[in-house]
Amino acid sequence: MKKTIVLLPGDGIGPEVTRAAASVLRETGHEFHHQFELQEFAIGGAALDAAGTPLLHETLEACRKADAVFLGAVGGPKWDSLPVGKRPERGLLDLRQGLGLYVNVRPVKLLEPLRGISPLKAERLNDLDLEIVRELAGGMYFGERGSVTEKGVERAFDTESYSTAEIERIAAFGYARAESRSRRICSVDKANVLASSQLWRRTVTSMSTVYPAIKLEHMYVDNAAMQLVLRPAQFDVLLTSNMFGDILSDAAAALVGSIGLIPSASFGSGPPVFEPIHGSAPSLVGTDSANPVGAILSVAMMLRDAFGLSLEADWVEQSLLRVLSGGHRTPDITEPGARTVGGSVFTEILREEMQRTLEHAERYGWGV
Ligand code: NAD
Ligand code: IPM
Ligand code: MN
Repeated sequence: MKKTIVLLPGDGIGPEVTRAAASVLRETGHEFHHQFELQEFAIGGAALDAAGTPLLHETLEACRKADAVFLGAVGGPKWDSLPVGKRPERGLLDLRQGLGLYVNVRPVKLLEPLRGISPLKAERLNDLDLEIVRELAGGMYFGERGSVTEKGVERAFDTESYSTAEIERIAAFGYARAESRSRRICSVDKANVLASSQLWRRTVTSMSTVYPAIKLEHMYVDNAAMQLVLRPAQFDVLLTSNMFGDILSDAAAALVGSIGLIPSASFGSGPPVFEPIHGSAPSLVGTDSANPVGAILSVAMMLRDAFGLSLEADWVEQSLLRVLSGGHRTPDITEPGARTVGGSVFTEILREEMQRTLEHAERYGWGV
């Protein structure tokens, strides 16, 4: 198989976790005889500093031509005083918009070796395995915004707005995802207050006749935030808006131990983008303590969901579980008795484990 993958390391710990992702991709290509061509471009603050804009036209063009895109993270204190439209984060939003990405899937699954580091008690955690299907192209992120000064008083505004068509296409994805899982979907909104949420709820409800086998539930976002902490195992697919999905996914990440563990995949009309859900974690830069697992699991999603390489994706995930079972941990997921290592050492140990797993599989078959 021959694939072109654009790497966008970005800022802060973005380059560190992208290095880990690239190393896993190279190893997979090498062992399974795939040709993965990796092309690297600056995005976010790095692109702002180098070229005055967080997403260069040529970078977007390269992404459009690629088979898949991997992104590290963007942003940081250096650029925090810039206005919203000129910040590194704008580069990421422009990339999503430029590639027509409207679906963002964020799987939050308890990794069994990490059960002990969850802030929840084992009986509440149960077998946590949910997926947040977040709308990515609309809502407040892309609605009308601005500021006006009236009689010396400044007012700023951002608009939450959704059309029926925008809701239908993300809901269709959510229903399809539920169909392939446990056939339950919980749509999260704020329909007791927001008109956009009322349209959301009405649209999602009317589509349920097309999916009679799927159990649809609605929940207000404030209750959903509470239920996530109280009884997260009740959820399977959580379908929600751009803004609510952003917030709920960080909260859900905490339940399994660290935001550094969670991958994501974004789909739409252009090539898919894979990225860990965490940010640039400025305080970790230069300490080699960033957890690369979210980035590595994003590579597994790329292999499986973009290239159809399930065996390769399973191989990466199984090897990763073995490394965690063996007690190797980055500082954010360490516990008494564990062997704490830096992110780059962790990735190196994973690469060795991947080779060992493959030798084992070649000799005895998979799953033995
Ligand atoms: P953050 O996700 O960078 O950090 C939140 C907390 O999680 C911090 O304590 C951090 O140390 C920790 N953390 C994050 N990733 C980690 C990892 N891989 N391993 C271990 N610990 C990790 O969020 P923030 O502090 O709110 O934002 C920092 C910057 O990142 C901001 O500029 C923000 O806009 C940007 N951001 C970018 C993205 C993205 O590029 N996708 C996502 C979120 C935030
Ligand atoms: C994320 C991030 C982004 C978002 C920012 C950096 C634009 O928080 O991917 O979760 O809000 O979507
Ligand atoms: Mn976020």
